[in-house]
Amino acid sequence: MIEATHLTGAGPVAGSVEPEGTLTLGERSLSLVLDGRERHFHYVWLRDNSWAAADRVFLSSERKLFTPAIATTVAPTEAEFDPDSGLSVRWTDGQQARYSAEWLRRHDYSQAPRHGRRHAVTLWAETDAELPRFSHADVVDTTDGQLAYLDAVAEHGAAIVTGVPSADHEVERFAETIGHVREVAFERVHNVRHDPTGYNVAHTPEELKPHTDLPSYNWPPSIQLLHFLTNEATGGESTLVDGWAALAELRRQAPGHFDTLCRVPVPYQLFSEEEDTWAENPMVQLDTDGNVKVFRFSNQLAQPLSIPFDQVESFYDAYRHLGTIIDSGRHRATFKSDGGDLITVHSHRVLHGRLPYDPASGARHLQDVYMEFDDLLARRRVLRGEHKPLAAERRDVTGEVA
Ligand SMILES: [Fe+2]
Repeated sequence: MIEATHLTGAGPVAGSVEPEGTLTLGERSLSLVLDGRERHFHYVWLRDNSWAAADRVFLSSERKLFTPAIATTVAPTEAEFDPDSGLSVRWTDGQQARYSAEWLRRHDYSQAPRHGRRHAVTLWAETDAELPRFSHADVVDTTDGQLAYLDAVAEHGAAIVTGVPSADHEVERFAETIGHVREVAFERVHNVRHDPTGYNVAHTPEELKPHTDLPSYNWPPSIQLLHFLTNEATGGESTLVDGWAALAELRRQAPGHFDTLCRVPVPYQLFSEEEDTWAENPMVQLDTDGNVKVFRFSNQLAQPLSIPFDQVESFYDAYRHLGTIIDSGRHRATFKSDGGDLITVHSHRVLHGRLPYDPASGARHLQDVYMEFDDLLARRRVLRGEHKPLAAERRDVTGEVA
């Protein structure tokens, strides 16, 4: 048993690392050396994450402890660390809690481990982006194949599955093997083919500039599956653009333009005879670390701006700059899809489009559905067995601490 060795001031302390297992109590936090790294944990955070029987619903692991009731002065009255049983603390409110070393490692919230837990993102090269490809049988029938496909979508923002049966609604069946279809105001399974009565430009044979679908929702669908049943027409090559790579280039070249697109709300609308969708948001939405989280780009669905007079020209300057990058061919993949190909795009990141085609030269028919990226990441966690929370303290089936 290793007991708390000494008291220091609050917060991380620079300097040499103490021996493995050294526990140091500060005023508001403690540090513990695990795997040669000094790890810091606030008392309020540890108290909040107690797995003591009184603080949890045993069967579901949900929290019973009401977090706002934790006193600001919460601190250990006793604390010790043992490599086998972990960190044991008696808190000033009388509760005894234990935190295993494995649990502390997994939830260490210092910068390096926190960033290491994000899924890897590889932006596309400036030229000749090559998309990862997988066979339908591997993705549908094997865990390893499905995991590799989900990893690729998460990292690269797009992947192609080949050999998908050219059957009506096969795209829906594929979606249901990896998650759930996201329903929108229009068809659950959307047909894209030449249709003079269609309600958007996708139903014409004209070029479709790279875009994201349905920015006319406050939360646009974040995954899109596009399944080619047949593609015999001349032309109509698919064009995908890594929007996050384009935005990274814009941010490097003109941070002011990037900021403008993070700030200025743009209204978008898509409607049919029976349905309407409309939402107004900035084209770029960042996460709390300043990374791009959601990118909306649909020139064809943008509606008149309604912003202060003195912001209008700076928005158009920023939009022009971004449009030039997207149109440049950098960060773009251009390829002819065959019947049986299914393209997956993380559609908060990757734009999709097509070159014009000649409808008289052959049939071109694809079906697409929407999904949510969250569900694909969840599927990945389940396949890896990572979805169940790791209890901080080991218990037997009766709930007794082992
Ligand atoms: Fe589209």
